[in-house]
Amino acid sequence: MTTAIVPATEEEIARAADILQGGGIVSFPTETVYGLGAISSNPTAVARVFEAKRRPFFDPLIVHISRFEQLGDLAADVPELAERVARRFWPGPLTLVLKKRECVPDIVTAGLGTVAVRMPRHGVALRLIEACGFPIAAPSANRFGATSPTEARHVQEQLGGAVDMIIDGGRCEVGVESTIVKVSGDSLELLRPGGVPVEELERMYGHLLEQRSSPTIEAPGQLPYHYSPSTPVRIVGTIDDEHLRNKDAALLFFTSHGGTPHDSRTRILSPRGDLREAAANLFSSLHELDRLGKCVIFAERVPEHDLGLAIMDRLRRASRRQDRGEGDDNA
Ligand code: TXA
Ligand code: MG
Repeated sequence: MTTAIVPATEEEIARAADILQGGGIVSFPTETVYGLGAISSNPTAVARVFEAKRRPFFDPLIVHISRFEQLGDLAADVPELAERVARRFWPGPLTLVLKKRECVPDIVTAGLGTVAVRMPRHGVALRLIEACGFPIAAPSANRFGATSPTEARHVQEQLGGAVDMIIDGGRCEVGVESTIVKVSGDSLELLRPGGVPVEELERMYGHLLEQRSSPTIEAPGQLPYHYSPSTPVRIVGTIDDEHLRNKDAALLFFTSHGGTPHDSRTRILSPRGDLREAAANLFSSLHELDRLGKCVIFAERVPEHDLGLAIMDRLRRASRRQDRGEGDDNA
């Protein structure tokens, strides 16, 4: 039986908190994407999250908090730089990776010596964490490797039946996952571009962020293939006449220009070319185009700055699946 979607009323949030306290798993909205949560100090409940998603245990989870004090319960040491970054960007789409406290279960961190922590800015997420009284470990609420959910029904389609409750918080405002940075002492390293533009972090930090060129065990979720719809995705510079003539293709435009068609196989991320708007529409557009069952989705490149970095990161991973080669025509 599929899991019902419930409205985000105070009663339902209280019921969700009860479910979490009883070791259950609940999908809830955040400003980035929907999460699938369990109380982070309950390893058995966290294991259910991995099972529901069919996520490998080597991929660690982000722990969500609602108050600054909770950071000290999870991180062994909060360097001054981490405190500054948190005060500037929390609540919001930023995750800090810090040395963990002993008490954080290994299943949450995949046995790493670090823990990822974030304070979301979605009212429902914050109220749920408060009501449950403990930090909540939550990955995005999708099947492992599939497109992230930005609406409650995306969660129901992928995980319905495997989770105890889905709270509806409408469409996610940011639409791509949080930016992940690792803080050690006074250095800041980018592990995943996301909802907080890298440029904003760099302005605050006063230096360029170090960025890992290849995924390592420290960011195992940064697999080269991820976020994939069932339909193959091909990234193209611009969608041209040849792509338009291919009736077996779905089309994902960045902006609207001269010949942009308005039909059921076309989505425009942001008609006015706004990267924030484009990020907010990215995953829902991929979900919609995927449902058409076409042979391919042609996706137009977006400029790689601000939220465009996160969009291109997701598109590249969506286009590189294990069973195919590279998907980006130009990169
Ligand atoms: O916006 C978000 O971050 C959403 C919402 C639900 O908060 N969550 C999310 O979680 O995107 P998930 O599990 O889909 O991605 C978390 C990423 C993974 O790539 C994982 O490898 C990385 O965070 N991560 C978690 N703990 C880590 C750690 N200790 N060191 C390095 N990377 C870590
Ligand atoms: Mg994810």
